[in-house]
Amino acid sequence: MALGFASAAMAEMGPIESRQACMKANGKMMGVMVPMMKGEKPFDKAAIDAAMADEAAACGGWAGWWGEDTKAGGAVETYAKDEIWTDKAGFEAAGMAYGKANEAVKAAADEASFKAAFPALGASCQGCHEKFRRPKG
Ligand code: HEC
Repeated sequence: MALGFASAAMAEMGPIESRQACMKANGKMMGVMVPMMKGEKPFDKAAIDAAMADEAAACGGWAGWWGEDTKAGGAVETYAKDEIWTDKAGFEAAGMAYGKANEAVKAAADEASFKAAFPALGASCQGCHEKFRRPKG
C-alpha cells in the first residue's frame, strides 16, 4: 500500500517538477564527484556508482519533460529558456554530449580514468545551462 501511494504521488509530479528533480539528482552527483576530482576526498567507485544510479532513476523520464506546454510563464516556475524550443537541435546535442560524458564517467573503473573523464561531464552541464537555462535569482 505504501508503495502504491508513492508511485501515485510520483505520477502527479508534472514534467517541470520532474526535470527539476532530475537536475537536483545531477547536482547531488556533482557533490559526490567534485571533491574526488579535486583530491579532497579519496576516489570511491561505489559512491560514484550510487550517485549515478540515483541520477539515472531520477532522470529516466527525460524524453517526456520538454513539451511546448512546459515553457516559462505557466503555473509552475521554470528556469528553462525558450531556446530549448527555438533551437531544438542544439538542445538535443547538449543532451547527447551529457549522455556521452556520463557513460564515460560510469565506465571509469579507477581514479586516473575517472579524472580523465570527469571534466567533459562538468562541461556538459555548463554547456547546456549557458544556452538553455535562466540563472536563478
Ligand atoms: C541538455 C541540457 C542540460 C544538461 C546536460 C544539464 N542540465 Fe541542469 N538544467 C537544465 C535546464 C533546462 C534546467 C532548468 C529546468 C527548469 O527549471 O525547468 C536545469 C536546472 C538545473 C538545476 C536546478 C534545479 C532546481 O530547480 O533546483 C541544477 C542543480 C542542475 N540543472 C544541475 C545540473 C548538473 C550538475 C548537470 C550535469 C551533471 C546538468 N544540470 C546537466 C538543462 C540541463
